[in-house]
Amino acid sequence: MKNPLSLFYLLVVALLFASSAGAEVKSLRGDAAVDSNADTQAAELKTYYKDHQPLQRDYLQQPPLIPHQIDGYIINVKHNKCLSCHSWKNYREHNATKISQTHFESRDGAVLSNVSARRYFCTQCHVPQVDAKPLVENTFQPVDTMRMN
Ligand code: HEC
Ligand code: HEC
Repeated sequence: MKNPLSLFYLLVVALLFASSAGAEVKSLRGDAAVDSNADTQAAELKTYYKDHQPLQRDYLQQPPLIPHQIDGYIINVKHNKCLSCHSWKNYREHNATKISQTHFESRDGAVLSNVSARRYFCTQCHVPQVDAKPLVENTFQPVDTMRMN
């Protein structure tokens, strides 16, 4: 950079950017360092239910929570443990809920003959049930026409 003034401007812009980015980002535990004191440490991981009833969904498009343990269930390119019970081929044998038709749609809306890549990694959207307090207050109410419970 030949002009020393342009280097100066570049520095000012970089500093402005850094300070504004810092001001906007705020995590749930605040500004405290991760291990500074017990209050700010993440809570102990609750134990998941081994086998539980499915929970009512709060709204139509909500991915249902997983009512059973999933320890050791492998999902990779070659193998998908979830589908061994939840696919349309296997659900009857295991008395499991079959994946819904939305799981067959490609991102362009084409209906495929097998699970779409965007719905292959089940735990991207479905998480096991756990008896945990919400991290932030939530007063969500579904609109009446889409109420599931
Ligand atoms: C050994 C069979 C089996 C495997 C493997 C399995 N499930 Fe299930 N799953 C079930 C059964 C059976 C139910 C129904 C439980 C009930 O209705 O009480 C269920 C229920 C669910 C539900 C709740 C559906 C609803 O309507 O509320 C979700 C979500 C789910 N499983 C996701 C998964 C995911 C994700 C995986 C993989 C990480 C997985 N399951 C692996 C048998 C299985
Ligand atoms: C991109 C997010 C996403 C992924 C990935 C995904 N799901 Fe779902 N799933 C949903 C949503 C949202 C619903 C509820 C609305 C619907 O059926 O589309 C749902 C519904 C379900 C249901 C209940 C169906 C019913 O008729 O009540 C089951 C069972 C299920 N998913 C299992 C799975 C399994 C097994 C996988 C992995 C192969 C998977 N899902 C991957 C978002 C996802």
